[in-house]
Amino acid sequence: MLVHIHIAPDRARCHTPPVYDDLPAELFDFHHSLLVDEVRTTSFLRALLQQIRPGDVVVDLGTGTGILSMFAVIAGASRVYAIEHGPMAEVARDIARRNGVDNRVTIINDWSTEAKLPELADVLVTETIGNIGFEEGILTWVLDATKRLLKPDGTIVPERISLVAAAVESRNDYAEIARLRRPVHELDFSTLSDLASHSILWTDLSPVSVVTEPAIVTSVDLAAIEQQDVAGSITVNARRDALVHGIGCWFVAEIAPGISMSNQPPTATPSWNQGFLPLPEPLQVEAGDRLTIEIQSGGGCSRWGWSLGLGEAAALTWTTSMTPLTPPPRGPSVAAW
Ligand SMILES: C[S@@+](CC[C@H](N)C(=O)[O-])C[C@H]1O[C@@H](n2cnc3c(N)ncnc32)[C@H](O)[C@@H]1O
Repeated sequence: MLVHIHIAPDRARCHTPPVYDDLPAELFDFHHSLLVDEVRTTSFLRALLQQIRPGDVVVDLGTGTGILSMFAVIAGASRVYAIEHGPMAEVARDIARRNGVDNRVTIINDWSTEAKLPELADVLVTETIGNIGFEEGILTWVLDATKRLLKPDGTIVPERISLVAAAVESRNDYAEIARLRRPVHELDFSTLSDLASHSILWTDLSPVSVVTEPAIVTSVDLAAIEQQDVAGSITVNARRDALVHGIGCWFVAEIAPGISMSNQPPTATPSWNQGFLPLPEPLQVEAGDRLTIEIQSGGGCSRWGWSLGLGEAAALTWTTSMTPLTPPPRGPSVAAW
């Protein structure tokens, strides 16, 4: 039953349930941006309607607001275990109650790798897909969950993630790095620029910045994950003369048979950007030139290395991302670089 309490405006904050007091508005904003990304939500809803059979037990790994758990209930799940390590777990509990599904959705406030369930699930759903597919740790989480939380013949949604790359001409993104080299009060802060030149920049790439045809660098079937890192190379043709500043990256996710989603430029999925992997120096290319791009991850996709060179067997200069300033995602035995 909803009870309406009239609160004087200057007292309103005192009535916030204590559990939400520490939650930053950015977190609500982030999760709301996920909810209003219709390409994302519609793809997952269609996939869950297709993959869940009435009575199935479902695990929602990284439930956030609980939207995918509620989609699972709509699709006929008898029980959903909704796992969320962050403070959104309590928010999801409230949302489930308001939507009348709290009798079928069990919220577990923990990392998926710590969670223990009373039964194995028929379906595992997770939207821990990063801007370049893998950097939110999806391989680490799914590898663990398939071993411990899912039936051996269970279904995974999404079923496949691919990393797509192309050479890009992106003056603005490159200028961002140079800007950090300028002295401030005649003091040298160029360390910031050095770090940025070894970091992935999240950006909104224009399709005209893409110089070569995009190609899949690596593609992982989530039901057959062999390791927590990815690596691959492509050789692609320059479509025009250009000054290449870096590698543009995005993902293609096959959510279920016949249902796929991508954040390729121009972005149709506002909750994701693309990645820009800067080169040590811009590279002048001519239409028809063959370029080789290599990308690999380490530390369970928490560190990245990349290179781009002219020719099929180019002598590639590797850029390796710095050790992240924040700790890598928690997980079982994260591989060394
Ligand atoms: C991109 S959000 C997606 C939220 C929600 N599933 C949706 O589709 O809107 C990913 C969520 O997963 C949580 N998360 C990521 N990895 C996790 C893990 N291994 N265990 C538990 N929660 C995790 C994050 O805290 C975040 O709330």
